[in-house]
Amino acid sequence: MKKFNIAVIPGDGIGREVVPAALDVLHTISEIHGGLQFDFTEFPWSCEYYLEHGVMMPSDGMETLGAFDAVFLGSVGNPKLVPDHVSLWGLLIKIRREFEQVINIRPAKRFPGIASPLANPKEFDLLVVRENSEGEYSEVGGRIYRGDDELAIQNSIFSRRGTGTAMRFAFNLAAKRKQHVTSATKSNGVYHAMPFWDQIFNEVSKEYPGIETASCHIDALAAFLVTRPQTLDVIVASNLFGDILTDLGAAIMGSIGIAPSANINVNGKYPSMFEPVHGSAPDIVGKGIANPIGQIWTAQMMLDHFGENELGNLLLQTIEKVTAEGIKTCDIGGGATTQEVTGEICARLKLL
Ligand code: NAI
Ligand code: MG
Repeated sequence: MKKFNIAVIPGDGIGREVVPAALDVLHTISEIHGGLQFDFTEFPWSCEYYLEHGVMMPSDGMETLGAFDAVFLGSVGNPKLVPDHVSLWGLLIKIRREFEQVINIRPAKRFPGIASPLANPKEFDLLVVRENSEGEYSEVGGRIYRGDDELAIQNSIFSRRGTGTAMRFAFNLAAKRKQHVTSATKSNGVYHAMPFWDQIFNEVSKEYPGIETASCHIDALAAFLVTRPQTLDVIVASNLFGDILTDLGAAIMGSIGIAPSANINVNGKYPSMFEPVHGSAPDIVGKGIANPIGQIWTAQMMLDHFGENELGNLLLQTIEKVTAEGIKTCDIGGGATTQEVTGEICARLKLL
């Protein structure tokens, strides 16, 4: 019997609707498998928690999470209660940084039955490896003066270690997929950091002679994601470029509600964290219509991470069967509720 201890943080908004849905699916997976057990421990850390305690998580929160095999997170943010820079930096970004989850993986693929805004999409199935610890998202910089002379300086940080780690991770993934990596650059505009990025990409690519490479400016690449996504497989990108590119990836799939992500700790010191790309969606919270597929596909990425690839594939195929038959929420053109989609996925898993 294999057992995994998982810390569950539903967080805010629809996180509290889609996380229970994905847990139902994981319970079903463990029923049909028999040799696999999940032990879930839920933590109420959220904006409401902040209002009560003045912090997003207790002072020993990170230590508590450190004892788990993985963190399964919904979404963080309720800008009406707590400013986003307080809530996200106090929980989501804190975990990503302190657990050294230096890589963020975000796939995008065409699902049958979900209309992509691309009129006749080819069978695209790509994956963005996003550098997750530095780059353009840094606290280095500051503000000076007030009034007409006021100015802000925001520094980007690109280290050989951080950049190389993301790139090697991408090449290793490519070795298991289509032997191709595209680097998202902007060395024609970003004067120091991006030529450095290109240089490291060149160096790292020499360690993987069997893998083909391409280097593409981020603006052109954004267009290619729309015009010919089927030509892309593994893309490696900086923190900001990867963030923007993956919302676009979600858009060409048909909805941000189906996009998953994994924050990977590569040194084995801390748990990795699995969360969908979307946020807490205050505009639809409480209506029962949040698309659970992003969170459920995120559970599939967690299964893969645990080495349960076969079960993971089974789950992904089941999601595809359910979308193909039109059982889907309204963001992707259906009329089903969160619970109906989840129930259908669980029922089909049980039939296998
Ligand atoms: P959002 O992702 O919450 O929502 C954007 C749009 O997509 C909304 O119209 C929403 O209804 C729709 N949407 C999102 N998930 C959906 C789902 N599962 N099913 C159907 N429709 C879905 O982004 P927004 O509105 O910019 O941010 C809201 C809050 O979430 C903010 O506090 C923000 O900081 C936070 N946020 C948190 C993230 C995280 O925890 N990883 C990521 C992005 C935003
Ligand atoms: Mg984003």
